[in-house]
Amino acid sequence: MTQESPARRESTDGQDASKAARPGALLAMLEEAQAASPGAWLSPEALLGIARALGVPPARVYALATFYPELNLEPRGAHSITVCRGTACHTKGSLALLRRVVRDLGLGRITESNDHPVTDVAGWITVRTVACFGQCALAPVIQIDGVTHSRVSLARLTLLIQALERERGA
Ligand code: FES
Repeated sequence: MTQESPARRESTDGQDASKAARPGALLAMLEEAQAASPGAWLSPEALLGIARALGVPPARVYALATFYPELNLEPRGAHSITVCRGTACHTKGSLALLRRVVRDLGLGRITESNDHPVTDVAGWITVRTVACFGQCALAPVIQIDGVTHSRVSLARLTLLIQALERERGA
């Protein structure tokens, strides 16, 4: 086993410090921690650990974790449905899509202005909204398990949900 020299250690520490100071370092650590976590989420302990590791106030870490809808502060379900609630999608009926998802999956807690993910008690599915997928010409847009579906009608959404539920029952 090789022992690290103090100089090497100091150099490494210096690299860590400069890494922490780099713009985007905090977000990168949050994404890495989430990806490594079962349930793909950031626990309070994980947030505190990152704050300590980077030497930044926990409030800053929490502020960033709550800013990005891609970061989860609760365990995520095995599947996910994301409904775009941007202007173009809203105009093309995304609110009705969101209401259908909530109704069909029996999720009573999500509201039309809710930008926090909601997961069913079984941990099977997480429903969330986004401000825009950047595909406004294809509105309304949703994502199911990372696959984008465009110009989604209520009838098509029902079929997509039924397909997911068949998979659940299989
Ligand atoms: S508003 Fe939905 S993709 Fe832009």
